[in-house]
Amino acid sequence: MNVTQRAEPCATRISGPIITATGMSGAQMYEVVQVGELGLVGEVVRIIGDLATIQVYEDTTMLKPGAKVLCTGAPLSVSLGPGLVGNIYDGIQRPLPGIEAKSGAWIRRGEKVEALDNARRWTFEPLAAKGDTVGPGQVIGQVVETPLVTHRIMVPPDVSGSVLSIVGKGDYTLLDPVAVIGTPEGEREVTMLQRWPVRQPRPIRERLRIADPLITGQRIIDTFFPLGKGGAAAIPGGFGTGKTITQHQLAKWSDAEIIVFIGCGERGNEMTEVLREFPELEDPRSGRPLMERTILIANTSNMPVAAREVSIYTGITLAEYYRDMGLSVAVFADSTSRWAEALRELAARLEEMPAEEGFPASLPTRLAQFYERGGAVTTLAGDRASVSIVGAVSPPGGDFSEPVTQHTRRFIRCFWALDTELANARHYPSIHWLRSYSEYAEDVKGWWEGSCPDWEDLRTEALTLLQREERLQQIVKLVGPDVLPDSQRLILFIAEIFKDGFLAQSAFDENDMYCSPEKQVALLRLILTLYHRGRDLIQEGVPLAKVTGMECVSEVLRAKAALSNKELHKVEELAKRLAEEAGELERQYMKGAACYE
Ligand SMILES: Nc1ncnc2c1ncn2[C@@H]1O[C@H](COP(=O)(O)OP(=O)(O)O)[C@@H](O)[C@H]1O
Ligand SMILES: [Mg+2]
Repeated sequence: MNVTQRAEPCATRISGPIITATGMSGAQMYEVVQVGELGLVGEVVRIIGDLATIQVYEDTTMLKPGAKVLCTGAPLSVSLGPGLVGNIYDGIQRPLPGIEAKSGAWIRRGEKVEALDNARRWTFEPLAAKGDTVGPGQVIGQVVETPLVTHRIMVPPDVSGSVLSIVGKGDYTLLDPVAVIGTPEGEREVTMLQRWPVRQPRPIRERLRIADPLITGQRIIDTFFPLGKGGAAAIPGGFGTGKTITQHQLAKWSDAEIIVFIGCGERGNEMTEVLREFPELEDPRSGRPLMERTILIANTSNMPVAAREVSIYTGITLAEYYRDMGLSVAVFADSTSRWAEALRELAARLEEMPAEEGFPASLPTRLAQFYERGGAVTTLAGDRASVSIVGAVSPPGGDFSEPVTQHTRRFIRCFWALDTELANARHYPSIHWLRSYSEYAEDVKGWWEGSCPDWEDLRTEALTLLQREERLQQIVKLVGPDVLPDSQRLILFIAEIFKDGFLAQSAFDENDMYCSPEKQVALLRLILTLYHRGRDLIQEGVPLAKVTGMECVSEVLRAKAALSNKELHKVEELAKRLAEEAGELERQYMKGAACYE
C-alpha cells in the first residue's frame, strides 16, 4: 500500500460483521458504505475522529485490513413503489427470488439487485389534473399492483406545489416521470418510485385514538384480548407453544389490507419453510393467493446478524408506506428475540457495556423505535389508516421475566401469553386467559356494541367465571371437589365448556379456523345462557348432574366446529332447545318436589 492511498477510507480492523475504518472524517452516522472489492453493504454506526465503525450486512469472510471503503452519502433506505407486494426480501430489501435468478445460488456476497423491477411497466391511471395544487402524500394516480391491492402513487413527503403536467393513463416504468410539479424550489419530476431511510418514521398528519378492532377470527383474541387496528401486541411463549402458527393464522385471517411478515427464524430451516409455505397460502376472503397482499422479509440463519438487526426497520418502513395510501397494514415479527440476539451480538462486537443478560442498554430504545411506529393515523392525504404490530417473543425457558419480554411490555398494550402447560395439553391456541391482557378492549368496545349492545357485559361475565374457576380449583386441589356446593361446581363445569367450546380453536378445522365476530358473540351468549339456566335450576334444587346431563350440553360444546359461520340460525335453534330442555327439567323437578310435600 503506498502512502497516497492511506488518506482514502479503508478498513483497519475486521471483527465478524463489525469493521473499523480510517480516513472516515467525512462520514455521517448511519451512512451507507460499500466495503472491499465486492462492495459489501454496511452502515456507519459510530464515528470517533476519522475512525468509523461499520456494521456490514454481508458475510465478511476473506475481507482484509486495507480494504477500501466507499461512502455513499445516503442513509440506509428502501425503494418504495409498485411491485413490493408479493415480494420476498432479505433484511436490506434485496429480493430473494431476484438474487436467486441472477446468481443461481441462494445469495452471493456483494450481489447488487434492484429492490424493484425498473424495467417492468405498470398501468398508471392519473387521479390529479394539470393545475391542481398538491401537497406531500397526496394521491396523484393509481396502479393495480395485484388483484387485491390498488397502489396509490403519492407526492413524495418533501414536495408540494402545483401540477404542471401529468401523463394520461398508460404503461410506465418506475423510472418514467408521471408528473411534473412546480415547487417553490423549482420543477420536480415525480416517478412511481420513492426512497425512504428505514430508521426514520414516515410523516403523518396526526395520530388517532384506536377505535376499530383488528378482526382476526380467533375467539380468544377478538372476544377476550382484542388488538385494535393500529395497536401493538406481544405474543410471548416458550419453544413450541404456538407463536409461529398463531402469527400465520393472524396473517391469513386478520382483516388488514396489507400483511408484512418479518421472519427471524427460530430454527435453522424455519424460514425456508415459511418461504415455501407462504406462497401456497390462500387469502380466505378472496380465494386469491395470500401473497397478493403480503410482503415477506426473511432472515435465513445463514444471513449475517446485522441484516437481521435492520430487517424490522425495513419491514415497518414498507408498512408505513402502504399505510400512507390509506390502508390498514399488519406487521408480524417472528421472533423479536432472535432480533434482540442480533443486537446483543453486535453490541458485544462493538464492545459496548452490556446491561441485563448481555443485552445492550439501548435494547428498550430500540424496541420502542419499532413498536412506536405502529398506530392509527390520519395520513398526509387525510385518510384514516393504521399499522398494527404483533411481535413474537421467545423467552428462554418460557420465563417472562427476561429482558426482551419485560421491555416489550412497556411498548405494547396487548399481551397474549402462551402457556407451556396448555400447549402440552394440546389446547391451542395456548394463550392463557388469566395471564393475558388487552388494554384495547375499552377502545374497541364501541365497535362491538354497534351490533351487540351487551358485548362488554358478556365478555366480563365470561372472564369473571374463568377467574372464579381458578380460585375454586385451588380449593379442589386442597380438599377435593366434593366439599363444593353444586352452584360452585357448576362454575367449574361451565369453565370447562368455555375452554373446550370457545377458547380452544383449531387452526386446521374447516369450520373452526375462522370464527366471524357474529359467531363469536352467538357462542359466548349460548354458553352464558347455559350457565344462567343451570344456576336457576340449581337454585331451585335440581341436582348438578341433571343440569350437566342435559342433551344439548354436548351440542353446545360442538357448536364451534359443527356449525359454520353462515349457520348462526342454528345457534339460535340450539339456544331455544336449551331453554326447552331446562324448562322440562324444571317442571319435572317441581312435580317431584310437589309429590313429597
Ligand atoms: N392453533 C393451533 N392449532 C393446532 N396446532 C397448533 C396450533 N398452534 C400450535 N400448534 C402445534 O404446535 C406446534 C408448534 O407450534 P409453533 O407455532 O411452531 O411454535 P413456536 O413458534 O412457539 O415454537 C405446531 O407444529 C403445531 O403442531
Ligand atoms: Mg416459531
